Amino acid sequence: MSEQKAPADSCVLVTGGAGFIGSHTVVELLERGYRVVVVDDLSNASEKVLDRIGKITGEKAAARLSFYQADVSDRAALEAVFAANDIDYVIHFAGFKAVGESVLKPVEYYSNNLNTTLTLVDVMRAHGCRSIIFSSSATVYGDPDALPLTEESPKKSATNPYGWTKWMIEQILSDLHVANPAWNVVLLRYFNPIGAHPSGLMGEDPKGIPNNLLPYVAQVAVGKRDTVRVFGDDYDTPDGTGVRDYIHVMDLASGHVAALAWMAGRTGVEVFNLGTGRGTSVLEIIKAFSKACGRDLPYVIEPRRAGDVTANYADCSKAKREMGWEATYDIDDMCRDGWNWQSMNPNGYED
Ligand code: UFG
Repeated sequence: MSEQKAPADSCVLVTGGAGFIGSHTVVELLERGYRVVVVDDLSNASEKVLDRIGKITGEKAAARLSFYQADVSDRAALEAVFAANDIDYVIHFAGFKAVGESVLKPVEYYSNNLNTTLTLVDVMRAHGCRSIIFSSSATVYGDPDALPLTEESPKKSATNPYGWTKWMIEQILSDLHVANPAWNVVLLRYFNPIGAHPSGLMGEDPKGIPNNLLPYVAQVAVGKRDTVRVFGDDYDTPDGTGVRDYIHVMDLASGHVAALAWMAGRTGVEVFNLGTGRGTSVLEIIKAFSKACGRDLPYVIEPRRAGDVTANYADCSKAKREMGWEATYDIDDMCRDGWNWQSMNPNGYED
C-alpha cells in the first residue's frame, strides 16, 4: 500500500513523460513539489520538451526531475531505474496512440502497448511498488447507449487495436488487484485532450498529417494546411457534426495530481472519467479556433470517417466528489492556448 507522504518525499515515475499529456503532467507534479522520474524512448517525443519543462518550472523545481531515455519494455533499463530511485507511484502514459495506424499495424500496437505494461508491472512488483495510474481512454465506452457517460457505463467492443489495448490494459491492471489486493490502481479515462501550456512553450506535436481534429485545425490556422476537413455533417447532433468532450491538457494534468493525492494510503481499482461534461461539435471547434486566431478558417464537408461515434461526453461528478477535481478551462481557453502554442512553434519542437 502506498503510504501518505508529503509530495517532496514522494517519487513518481512517469512513463511517456516527454509526450503531450505526460509533459504537462510532469510540470504539474514538479510545481506541486513531487520528485519525478521520466522514462521515455523519445520515439514520438522530443528531448527539447525537457528544456521547456525546466523553463516553465524553474531550475529549483527542475532539479527534482530525472530523465532516462529508455523503452519501457526494456526490462534491464527499467530495473536500473527502479534500483536507482525509490519509486512510490507510477503514472503510465507510454504507448502508441494513433487510431488509424493501429488498424494497419495491429501486431506493433498489441506488442508495444501490452509488453511495456506487462514489463512495467512485473518490475514494479519486484520492487514492492504497487500504485499505478493508467492513461486510459473514453474509447473503452465504444458507441454509447446513453449520454453522459458515467464510470458505470458499459465497456463496449473497441473499434480498433489501439482501443483494444486500452481496454485490455484496464483488465490486466484490474486482474493484478484480484491476485494481490495490495495493488492500488487508478484508471483515468480521458475524453479529448487539447490545448497547450498557457506559456506557449509546450503543446501537441504530432508527426506527419495530424489524425485528430485540433492539431489539424491548428495547422490550417498557421498556414501549413489549406482546409479543415469535417468528417460528416449528417449526424444526429444539433449541427450535424460529431460531438466530443474536449478537455484542456492542463486540466488533465491536474487530474493526475488529484488522483495521486486521492490514492495515497488506499488499495483497490478505481475508474474516473476526466472530461468537462460538455459536448462541442466540430463546427463549434472551428468557430472557436477561428476566434482565437483572428480569421475564419476554411473547411469542407467530407463523408463520415469510419469508426467515429456520433457523440460522447462525460459525467465527471465522481472525480469531483471523490478527488475534488473538476475541469476549469472552457473551449475558448483551449483554442487560445492551442493557437498560442502553434503560432509560437509552427513546426512543433523542431527548429
Ligand atoms: N474530425 C474531423 N476532421 C478531422 C479530424 C477529426 O471532422 O480532420 C472529427 C471527427 O470525425 C470527430 C471529431 O472531429 O467527430 C474528433 O475527432 P478526433 O480524431 O480529434 O478525436 P476522436 O474522438 O476520434 O478520438 C479521440 C482520441 C482517441 C480516443 C478517442 C476516444 O484521439 O485517442 O478520442 O474517445 F480513442
